[in-house]
Amino acid sequence: MSEQDAALIERISKLKKENNAIILAHNYQRGEVQDIADFVGDSLGLSQEAAKTDADVIVFCGVDFMAETAYILSPDKLVLLPDENAGCPMAEMITVEDLMEEKEEYPGSAVVCYVNSTADVKAESDICCTSSNAVKVVDSLEAPEILFIPDKYLAQYVASKSRKKINYWNGFCPTHARILPEDIIELKKEHPQAKVVVHPECMPEVTALADAVESTGGICRFARETDAKEIVVGTEIGLLRRLRKENPDKVFYPASNKAVCPNMKLTNLEKVLWALEEKQHVVKVPEDIRIRALDAVNKMISIV
Ligand code: 13P
Ligand code: SF4
Repeated sequence: MSEQDAALIERISKLKKENNAIILAHNYQRGEVQDIADFVGDSLGLSQEAAKTDADVIVFCGVDFMAETAYILSPDKLVLLPDENAGCPMAEMITVEDLMEEKEEYPGSAVVCYVNSTADVKAESDICCTSSNAVKVVDSLEAPEILFIPDKYLAQYVASKSRKKINYWNGFCPTHARILPEDIIELKKEHPQAKVVVHPECMPEVTALADAVESTGGICRFARETDAKEIVVGTEIGLLRRLRKENPDKVFYPASNKAVCPNMKLTNLEKVLWALEEKQHVVKVPEDIRIRALDAVNKMISIV
């Protein structure tokens, strides 16, 4: 570790204590940010941590919808996003107006909203889900027909596992869309002993080639539990650092080096320090929207 980083980390720890703050980081964050976090995990784990913490301040090292979800669950806390430009392009692919039109088109459908969405879209949905519980959430509903938003690839994965009829919005993750079936085929040829685990945001042609389809937290569990010594990983490449750190006896191959989420990389140690020093950038949701979005998030958490 450089002397500069060590000095930054010392200042971050001091401010964290003074402000009774907690640092939450997503699995795709830079390594140095993951290392200073109190909790590193997937979207579901992060929302559970945000709901139960007794800290006064949450510094959210991730993208904006994650920080919004933390605020929705813990409105009495100060939720800070170190870089205000850290958004999720998939979440921006559906607006609340789009959703209202879709609801008119599918009047009998229950709306299942991937947590990668804006708070006002959550507020108009029946229930949220994350990549780790999407199938369970869909199957828990009484409605035989579902309107799944905004990720068409996650929707198609859920449809392959559920008996319900799934209608879906045409959104997708530009980072996972960079992972192509030919990447997996090539790696399987190069490493015939390897197991393949991919994220359900990948296209169906990719998930069809995998041994397992998991959230980022599920990929970590798969890596820990499998007997395989070589593992091809189809998700954002930031996860590989954690996988290698937790499983030093195993070899991990990224399905594609192009699978980088630029927004997840915007947060660094300097910005975490700055966030704590200046109490910025404050993430809030208007109360009327928060209350309705909370209902959709809480329903999800209750059936985890
Ligand atoms: P996870 O909930 O699996 O960590 O996914 C979050 C995400 O943004 C994936 O692109
Ligand atoms: Fe959004 Fe994809 Fe980045 Fe996840 S990896 S935050 S879904 S753009």
